Amino acid sequence: MSAHGEPKPMIARKGTALKGVAEVPGDKSISHRSLILGAMAVGETKVTGLLEGQDVLDTAAAMRAFGADVVRDDDGTWHIHGVGVGGFAEPEDVLDCGNSGTGVRLIMGAMATSPIAATFTGDASLRSRPMARVTDPLALFGTKSYGRAQGRLPMTLVGAAEPLPITYTTPVPSAQVKSAVLLAGLNAPGQTVVIEAEATRDHSERMLAGFGAEITTEVTPEGRVITLTGQPELNPQTIAVPRDPSSAAFPVCAALITEGSDVLVPNIGLNPTRAGLFETLRDMGADLTYENMREEGGEPAADLRARFSPNMKGIEVPPERAASMIDEYPILSVFAANAEGATVMRGVRELRVKESDRIAAMADGLRAAGVEVEDGPDWWIVHGRGPGGVKGGVTVATHLDHRIAMSFLCAGFASQQGITIDDAGPISTSFPIFEPLMRDLGARLDLVSAR
Ligand code: S3P
Repeated sequence: MSAHGEPKPMIARKGTALKGVAEVPGDKSISHRSLILGAMAVGETKVTGLLEGQDVLDTAAAMRAFGADVVRDDDGTWHIHGVGVGGFAEPEDVLDCGNSGTGVRLIMGAMATSPIAATFTGDASLRSRPMARVTDPLALFGTKSYGRAQGRLPMTLVGAAEPLPITYTTPVPSAQVKSAVLLAGLNAPGQTVVIEAEATRDHSERMLAGFGAEITTEVTPEGRVITLTGQPELNPQTIAVPRDPSSAAFPVCAALITEGSDVLVPNIGLNPTRAGLFETLRDMGADLTYENMREEGGEPAADLRARFSPNMKGIEVPPERAASMIDEYPILSVFAANAEGATVMRGVRELRVKESDRIAAMADGLRAAGVEVEDGPDWWIVHGRGPGGVKGGVTVATHLDHRIAMSFLCAGFASQQGITIDDAGPISTSFPIFEPLMRDLGARLDLVSAR
């Protein structure tokens, strides 16, 4: 069942080459953070290029529930009148964060050190995901949480009335956990410190500094030590959200595996904590070039040009790169299925607790489509069938997971017999224009009537 309504089965078939320009939407991670920090600043933050996917719209609704004024202009600019650090009001009703782990975990952090209660829920996918990874560190600030067994939603948090700053080493590589602790630290007196052994996406650190918080990152032998000074006044900002490299991954990979293709994906953020997939594709022999390299809002950006690549080779993906491409393993596995030889992916246990168990979801669907896949708790290996070698002719389950849905549609474009997904509905959480954008490039994508 789709997050919002009936399931929407869809088939992707082999068609002509993909050609043209793919303008993908704004970055999901940066969009959530713009709304949350805008709501915690004093005054009006303006955001252009915000991703208007369901995940982000759910976060906007939550910020309104906490008392911020959040409106969208007719020209697409978002205006957020923030209530200041510690200024959140108590929501009158349950907050539904839909499909979004980032939304719920960051919002939990943002309200955790204010003396209010809030109850969170989400769709079936989000209700099955672990929240203790966030509520454990929040408890150290003095936040109480009451949820279902194993820290599942629905869950009520009661914010700490007199929060204490904390020092916390993240037990898993997670930008969501890091960000929740930093957002909670905003309303605690003194210094909150997060230590992460592996670098995860650093959008929160960059944006907190942009809003005027005192925040430093030190690289030490133990990892990155991030120190935030609490109780700043955050100054409203004007933010131009860059385009999402995780969304760019789909038209890029579709072009690389579809014969004759040549697609330009302009203006993609290449923050090193996010760009691991593109490096990996190039290591595997992809004809993927970075054109017009530049700086946009302090972050590296480029236009990506992807051309059909007949000489793709499987590799061992460096595990230390995992955090910088954690959302891209599903589409990488599709690319790998069209390469020669084995692609080995290790150190990816986190894939098991995303919107779905992404190793299981991809392995099941790829096997059904004729690809040999091996998997273990934190690793998997895809045995490539060479360009155009995926048979297809199957319907695969997407488990309410937008990235599984888009990955199998991209696989379908290069398959022999097409691939059907059981539900394209969740794609709207992160990439609402995926369908028209891919069609404009020439992709064959059709709704299938549900039986
Ligand atoms: C995100 C962090 C990642 C990623 C998610 C977005 C973020 O999750 O998978 O899609 O915006 O902070 P983890 O931090 O849990 O690895």
